[in-house]
Amino acid sequence: MYYIGVDLGTSAVKLLLMDGSGHIEKIVSKEYPLYFPQPGWSEQNPEDWYTQTMAGLKELLSECDRSQVAGISFGGQMHGLVILDKDDNVIRPALLWNDGRTYEECDYLNNVIGKDMLSKYTANISFTGFTAPKILWVKNKEPENFAKIEKIMLPKDYIAYKLSGVHCTDVSDASGMLVFDVKNRCWSKEMMDICGIKESQLAKIYESYEEVGTVLPEVAKELDIPASVKVVAGAGDNAAAAVGTGTVGDGMCNISLGTSGTIFISSEKFGVDENNALHAFAHADGHYHLMGCMLSAASCNKWWMDEIIGTTDYAGEQKAIDKLGENHVYFLPYLMGERSPHNNPNARGTFIGMTMDTSRADMTQAVLEGVAFALRDSFEVAKSLGIRIERTKICGGGAKSPLWKKIIANVLNLKVDVIESEEGPALGGAMLAAVACGEYASVEDAAAKLVKVIDTVEPTPELVEKYEKRYQQFKEIYPACKPLYDIITK
Ligand code: XUL
Repeated sequence: MYYIGVDLGTSAVKLLLMDGSGHIEKIVSKEYPLYFPQPGWSEQNPEDWYTQTMAGLKELLSECDRSQVAGISFGGQMHGLVILDKDDNVIRPALLWNDGRTYEECDYLNNVIGKDMLSKYTANISFTGFTAPKILWVKNKEPENFAKIEKIMLPKDYIAYKLSGVHCTDVSDASGMLVFDVKNRCWSKEMMDICGIKESQLAKIYESYEEVGTVLPEVAKELDIPASVKVVAGAGDNAAAAVGTGTVGDGMCNISLGTSGTIFISSEKFGVDENNALHAFAHADGHYHLMGCMLSAASCNKWWMDEIIGTTDYAGEQKAIDKLGENHVYFLPYLMGERSPHNNPNARGTFIGMTMDTSRADMTQAVLEGVAFALRDSFEVAKSLGIRIERTKICGGGAKSPLWKKIIANVLNLKVDVIESEEGPALGGAMLAAVACGEYASVEDAAAKLVKVIDTVEPTPELVEKYEKRYQQFKEIYPACKPLYDIITK
């Protein structure tokens, strides 16, 4: 049988076709536009997601025996607010996970309602990208749109709805809404009241590996697949990536270097960082995880290469880097503000430390290192909670760079396990579909059978020591710049 994983990303949707033994038959990617209508705002059209997903599905299935397709599931960009009216039409473009416009609503939630209360109701506090402050933003700034809301959905759930006709979501993605009681895996009555919404406006909650229904007859016809194809809830992209990299069960770690950068730690037990610098979310394996999320990771390198240097030869630029651990230039990767651990939408990208002999390679190196140092900021929070991690998996576009993996291994002093397929969320989505269709007994079973480590990047004591010194310096830069960010963004 065949299983389809749909990774609804920020720059493109990636679709993956896997057979029952885990063999990846084909991968297709379709882009869509991303809009920044004002500085710090970030939007996309849900209709674009659906059009491109359908176009991608047709291409994905063009050469296979379509009668063998059994299930489809998802990994999706988290936190985005999709609002539908009474006819299930999209009311306005979706506000995305990296949109920073909701700082007033965040301030209200964290300081008037209070972080203690939010953490008690949901296990998390408010960050500008989360969904609850977005709901409040629409309520405060676009009351005419708020009045029309019949359904509130997350990005991938809008696609699941279009395919199945069911308003569904899953526990991992719902966790990032700040309307979800993570510990008890249900909607929070208190948070619904605070946001001024009713439970009937929210989707039905499923575990990530549960079937929500089958494809609608018209979808089956358009794609020429059986009407029995199961639509499976899926997961937020980080939880799906964790499934795809085998980061399930207790104490496993995955780093994702995509548009965002995340460090994801799976846990069999529910637990909260008492300062809420890390997110405490439900996992797609039926358990929980902690996660630090930086808003710009591989996107910093993409910005530096495409927009600033003006090259497409990423590997060529990295060849010139030969002095690891000795760079005097630092880069703070806050091109969209920052989430973990600083929670500051006003933070900005910053280079510091250049001299007349600074080279282009030093600047490129600083970008790669800055992302690694910022990931370490979140990793330090996890360590302060007593979590001991010695190795991590890695996925996402940035993970294709051997140099970046080496920098990460040494900055975080972690063994970095490289897996056969770096297709994180799309593979995780296909695996969740396979579990729901009975091909594997559980998410853990699928991960144990399908994920293969093919190489390990080991940190070396000499480089770890050099980077330790650099990290101690890096750590001082954000607090010093923080007051300036407030001034320059006024
Ligand atoms: C996680 C987060 C990002 C997006 C990216 O909290 O906001 O990783 O899910 O797609």
